[in-house]
Formats: sequence, structure tokens, C-alpha cells
Amino acid sequence: MEGKREEGKWEGHGREEAVRNSAFGRGKGRLSKIFDILPKSVFLDEFSMSKFYITTAIDYVNGSPHLGHAYEKVLTDVIARFRRLMGDDVYFLTGVDEHGQKVQQSAKAKGVPPQQFCDEVAGEFRALCARLAISNNDFIRTTEERHKKVVREILQKLYDKGEIYKAEYKGFYSTRQEQFLQDKDRNPDGTWPEIFGEVTEITESNYFFKLRSYQDWLISHLKENESFVFPRYRQKQVLEFLAEPLNDLCISRPKERLEWGIPLPFDENFVTYVWFDALVNYYSAVVDQPGIWPATFHVIGKDILVPPHAVYWPIMLKAAGIELPKSLLAHGWWSINGSKMSKSTGNFVDPVAFADQYGVDALRYFLIREMSVGQDSDFSQTQFAARYNSELANNLGNLVNRTLNMTNRFAAGVIPAGEVTDEVETELRALWEKTREEVIQLMEGFQFHIALERAFSFITATNAYIEKRAPWKLGKSTEAADLALLRTSLATMAEALRLSTALIQAVMPGTAEKINGVLGHTPTGTWREQLSWGQCLTGQKVAETAILFPRPQTKA
Ligand code: MSP
Repeated sequence: MEGKREEGKWEGHGREEAVRNSAFGRGKGRLSKIFDILPKSVFLDEFSMSKFYITTAIDYVNGSPHLGHAYEKVLTDVIARFRRLMGDDVYFLTGVDEHGQKVQQSAKAKGVPPQQFCDEVAGEFRALCARLAISNNDFIRTTEERHKKVVREILQKLYDKGEIYKAEYKGFYSTRQEQFLQDKDRNPDGTWPEIFGEVTEITESNYFFKLRSYQDWLISHLKENESFVFPRYRQKQVLEFLAEPLNDLCISRPKERLEWGIPLPFDENFVTYVWFDALVNYYSAVVDQPGIWPATFHVIGKDILVPPHAVYWPIMLKAAGIELPKSLLAHGWWSINGSKMSKSTGNFVDPVAFADQYGVDALRYFLIREMSVGQDSDFSQTQFAARYNSELANNLGNLVNRTLNMTNRFAAGVIPAGEVTDEVETELRALWEKTREEVIQLMEGFQFHIALERAFSFITATNAYIEKRAPWKLGKSTEAADLALLRTSLATMAEALRLSTALIQAVMPGTAEKINGVLGHTPTGTWREQLSWGQCLTGQKVAETAILFPRPQTKA
């Protein structure tokens, strides 16, 4: 009747492996291939508009945040920062989901009132956002009055319109788990699994939302808006789900079974089903600020696409006469040794420990570089350390150190003007132009992992340029031509470093700020202007040293 919200997550509706192999390919793809899978209308039309409202899912507060939650926030933050750089007027919302049985039970287990329990855990999620340099404009909690008020208004409106009715529901109920069960929950021999304890058939009155009467409308909406869900193959999953008749949605829980929720405005003996409450956050957070709704993207994990975000939410909005969000972006799962990371199984990584050990930008870099948006990834400490050492410390960190050391050693710490343009300079500059355009296009299509690979290839090419020019040899010469080449090489490496930094700043904002600082540089103008090769660093005094990616201190 109502999905599986209380006991876990909805599993996707099959065929993941086949789809994964055919649609995106694993890991690296060629640019031409990427445009085949881009949500074309989104890519061409939506990105030219200036208002960009983006949200994350709101996390349950029944446990502390883990790396999966951190990923969603970082991914959304990278998109938000990138869109701001592209000139959009971005509004970025995140927050927490605080009602429902799980939270009520967790608070009870700790022996504290639910509100106090929520305050503590919500504080942890808020702190995580600050720790991860998340640039959200707002943080919503579903226990806030501003939210509850809007949920009540929507419920009342739907009730008055006749979209909500009361009916009896008969089903098997597990008192231990406090949930209705379905036939698929049974053991193969027809008995109920041990975890459910005593199972009895009960009849209960509840309120139902007329989901079914909107099924045909939703199917047409999805067919007309092929890019409603990104990646596109997930839209097919939604349509597959809609191929079966929908049941109306039970949107209430009797107060004697669940107290921790928003009372129905038309019947105080019931509280609102937690998804019906939680989904409204995207709207309640901005309802008083004209011009923000509808959302451009709701960023969510694949487990909560069908049915809550792709079925309940659009139908709730349609029935209430509210504009629909433009798109949903469903990302994959982080796993450890192949099993989904989750707090309840104890199989998780603490993002704060990693940020403390390696630095927050190293964590952000890894999450975005390692996972292809939409696909799953396995988290391994070895892989993290390998990328940290080879890509951050030995490639980017090395370029920063060389630039500072050589500028101090051969030019008294002041970046000289470039004077010569030989083949090596022309090649590096051409590579820059190509890299910049590719990276922007890749980021527009959420192909951040490939975008970072391209940006770091340019950093590798800059280090190779330094090897070719060998300023340490030129510095020993007294020939005027060699000294002009020396100055050129110093100017070129500093400019290439400045540009690379500007290109990756949405992913590594703190690092970008540090690098600009040691180069004596304050970026000005639009991002496009910042990304054009020039001589704006000439005459800047650089710092003596910078330690960006130190050897990690403690073990995460
Ligand atoms: N409260 C609901 C969402 C309501 S949105 C109106 C919920 N909360 S959650 O805490 O379980 O998950 C929050 C988000 O984190 C979801 O988008 C979920 O997919 C994501 N992740 C949770 N575990 C994850 C991984 N192991 N990997 C990546 N993201 C996953 O669902």
C-alpha cells in the first residue's frame, strides 16, 4: 500500500547492471558518447536560464551522518558552485527529516524526548555541512513551524478538493516492527520472518490520497519530459513502475501508533505519513520567497527515486496545483566491499574523520573524482590514499611547490612577464583552451569525474612543460636568450597553475583560495574571464612555501 519507507528503502526496479553497462559505460567515456546520454532539453534550455534552485534529500536524524550523506551534499555543492560560476542565480537547500517511527524509536532508546533527540542529531548534520564547505543558502528542519504550516495547508487543500478520503485498511501488522507487512515480506514457506515478531491481521481506519487518479497524467508528463530524471535510463525505471496500477497512498498514522509527526489538520487523531511531510520541505523552505520555486534539480539517491520523488511528489504537487520541479538527479550508492554503506549495518565511513586526516578538499576531490554520477562506487582507503598521493600531492601539490620555489630562487619571488612563445608554450596553451571547453561541457552534463581527469591531465602537462624547459638549467646561464626563456617558463607555470586552480574551484574551493593566496592573486571578473590565458600574475609576489597536501597524520 505505502511502499517500504519505515523499514528501509525502495529497491530500484531491476535491470541496473544491464543499464549501467549500456548507458554510461563504466568510468571514462568519450565526449561524443556523453552527449548521447545528456538530458538534451535540460542541457540546451534550462542551463541558459539564470535562476537555479537545487536541493539535496533531507537526511533522517535517526543516526549520525556517514559518507553517503556527505557525498550527496558535496555533489550538490559542486553543482551549485559551478552554476554560480556560470552566472546563475543559485539557491541551494539542504536539511533534515525529523518525524516518523524510526526517530521516535531512536529517541526512546536513548531515553530523551524526540525533539531533544532531533536537535542533537540535526546539529551534527549542520556541522557536517560546515565541515565539508557546503555552500547551502538554507538548512530546513521538518520540525520547524515554517515547514509544518505548509504541510498542514497542503493537506487541508487536498482534503477540501476531495483528493483525500478516509477508508478502512485491512492487513498484516507486526507489532514489534510497528508496520504493515506485505506478502512479499513472507518467508518462502509462507511464515513471517523472525524479525517481525508476532504478526496479526488488523483493520485500521486511515486517510488515503488519490494517487491512482493521477497515474495516466504522470505517465504522459514523463513521456513529454524525457529529461525529467537524470540519468535518463532511470526515467525508464519510473515508467516501468507506472506500468502496474498504482494504489492510493495511505498518508496517515493513528496517533496511538505514532505520535511523532504532524497532526492532520482535519483529524487530530492522526499524524501525517512521514514522506508526505518530508517531500514538502523543498517547497515549504522557499514558499515565502517569490521567484525561487520550482526547483531546477532535486538531487537524491537512487533508492528514493521510485516511488517517493518520481511518483508521490509530482502527483502531490499536481493535485495541489503547484508547479512541478524541472528535474530529478539520482546518484548511486557508496559501498564498502560491495555492500551499501549504511549506519544501521555498521558498514560505513565517517566523513569527518577523513576530512580531519586528509583535509576537506581531498575528501571532496576523491568523492567527485571516483564516482561517476548515477553509478555506484566502492570506497577503499587504498584507492583514497593512491589518489591523494599521486594526483593531489605529487601532481597538483608538486606544481604549486615548484612554482613557488623556482620563482623565489630565480626571480626574487616576483612572477616575471612571459617573453617568448615557442612550440612548447603554444602546445600548452592550446591544451589549455581544449581542456577548459571540455571541462565546462562535462560539468554541465554532470560528468564531474571525467572533468577532473581532464583538468588534472592539464596539470600533468604543465609539470611536463617544466621538465622540458628545465628552469634550473636556464638559471645557471648568463645568456640573455636563456634568461628570457627562464622568465617565460616561470610566467607560464604560474599562469597554468592559476588557470587550473580556477577550473577546479567548484570541487576544491579551499585549495583554490590557498593557491590564489600564495600566488598573490585576487580573482576578478566573470569566471569565463578568469579562465582566459593572460598575464595578470606579472609582478605578483609569491609566498615562500605552501603545504597543501601534507603527509596524513592519523589513521581515519
Ligand atoms: N529522509 C529520507 C529522504 C527524504 S527527502 C524528502 C532519506 N533519508 S536518508 O538519510 O536515509 O538518506 C538521505 C540521502 O542519502 C538519500 O538521498 C540517500 O540515497 C543518500 N544515501 C544514504 N546512503 C547512501 C550511500 N551509501 N551512498 C550514497 N548515498 C546514499 O532517505
